[in-house]
Amino acid sequence: MKGVVLAGGSGTRLHPLTRITNKHLLPLFDRPMISYGIEALVQAGITEIMLVTGGTHAGEFLRLLGNGHEHGIDRLSYAYQDRPGGIAEALGLAERFAADDPILVMLGDNIVEHSFRTTVERFGSQDRGARIILTEEEDPTHLRHLGVPDFDDAGRIRRIVEKPEDPPSHYAVTGIYCYPPEVFSIIGTLEPSGRGELEITDVNNWFVDKGEMEFDVLEGFWGDAGESIEAYYAVNDFVRAHGVNKA
Ligand code: G1P
Repeated sequence: MKGVVLAGGSGTRLHPLTRITNKHLLPLFDRPMISYGIEALVQAGITEIMLVTGGTHAGEFLRLLGNGHEHGIDRLSYAYQDRPGGIAEALGLAERFAADDPILVMLGDNIVEHSFRTTVERFGSQDRGARIILTEEEDPTHLRHLGVPDFDDAGRIRRIVEKPEDPPSHYAVTGIYCYPPEVFSIIGTLEPSGRGELEITDVNNWFVDKGEMEFDVLEGFWGDAGESIEAYYAVNDFVRAHGVNKA
């Protein structure tokens, strides 16, 4: 299984900090944000990774990560997104890298307290479809900024609603997704959403509609450090106080 880390976007929710650098290069405690996602993938046993980025600061990722060996990566590739067009569009750039392998995709601003290695193992023994990681979230205000699953009576995901006014459950979809190689043909069929982006939630709902979406619920802390300046500092405080990427 290969890994794809998405580290593009214009980071408007963190302006003006992100006018002068890429969001994923901002510090979280003692390291640039992107280091945590890379570490999480390596810990989960994924050592062939593509980093997708864009904008004017792309070169800094090379300075930080180089060939990846110091970070435990066997083979690190890079792709460049010409203009921010959404998570699914960025993922599309990894098509040739993925070739016919299954992939784990992680948004570079997502921070996890505990390893998601078990999800990678479970996905490895899944015959078909996709697998996502959810986190429990009680606060409806927070849920309104995220993807939220609606469950049927059997506890399967019936639909994922992106940034719902009225959140249908107390779970959020994190930015960690496992996909089979067919994901790239699905991306080719997507239309831009209201915010002008190809949405990862539309990719996920394609698998939901086919009855081929599995999920795990993450244990411990999860944070999206790019969601708002408050979220950025909340994640920073957590990382500093407790540490993340624990076994
Ligand atoms: C994206 C996804 C959303 C998910 C979130 C997790 O949101 O669209 O479903 O809950 O990442 O970080 P965005 O950061 O693009 O607003």
